[in-house]
Amino acid sequence: MTAYEHLKKLDDDAAAVIARYPQSGSALLPLLHLVQSEEGFVSPAGIEYCADKLGLSTAEVSAVSTFYTMYKRRPVGDYHVGVCTNTLCAVMGGDAIFATLKDHLSVGNDETTEDGKLTLEHIECNAACDYAPVMMVNWEFMDDMNPDKAVGLVDELRAGKAVHSTRGPALCTFKQAERILAGFEDPREGAVAGGGAAGHATLAGLLVSQGRTPTGPAVTTEASE
Ligand code: FES
Repeated sequence: MTAYEHLKKLDDDAAAVIARYPQSGSALLPLLHLVQSEEGFVSPAGIEYCADKLGLSTAEVSAVSTFYTMYKRRPVGDYHVGVCTNTLCAVMGGDAIFATLKDHLSVGNDETTEDGKLTLEHIECNAACDYAPVMMVNWEFMDDMNPDKAVGLVDELRAGKAVHSTRGPALCTFKQAERILAGFEDPREGAVAGGGAAGHATLAGLLVSQGRTPTGPAVTTEASE
């Protein structure tokens, strides 16, 4: 009897993940996501499971799982709600969004609501600064947010309504998202393999830098003011 009996149902999927790599140790990151797809976080048993599957020590697995912030040490709610509070998002309203959600949900940073539905966390830059302030729900982008939109978003998630990322795909639960991050098929309508094309804000910046006129939604530049 091992500490990870509850994870043995993942054995076939774990074998498929490991088979993708010439060296089994390279499979650690997706394997940790696979564990989170079952547990909703990485427990000590989950660390032992990965170590045994990959021939690593639990100290090695633990070192990796505690280094990357996408691996959680406590159970995450159905929806991980991240608010970018790095410099650009912060000055564009990210700090206000985070403060509003803390009050609205009665939780602090990295805490889960009493109903177990939402975990709030301030997150670092997601290289989406041209859509600031940005939020992420289970790692799907919610662009051009503000406090009112953020409150509406979390209320809809808590009410069980279908919500879409501003870039298309329907939001799934944290555990479902973790299975996709482990490299298994994304069954959602609107999901784009490989991340899709650059959006209007990103392309507008490129065009302005080239002295060309952006198309699509209006973009205000210093030169046009
Ligand atoms: S500062 Fe928020 S996405 Fe870059």
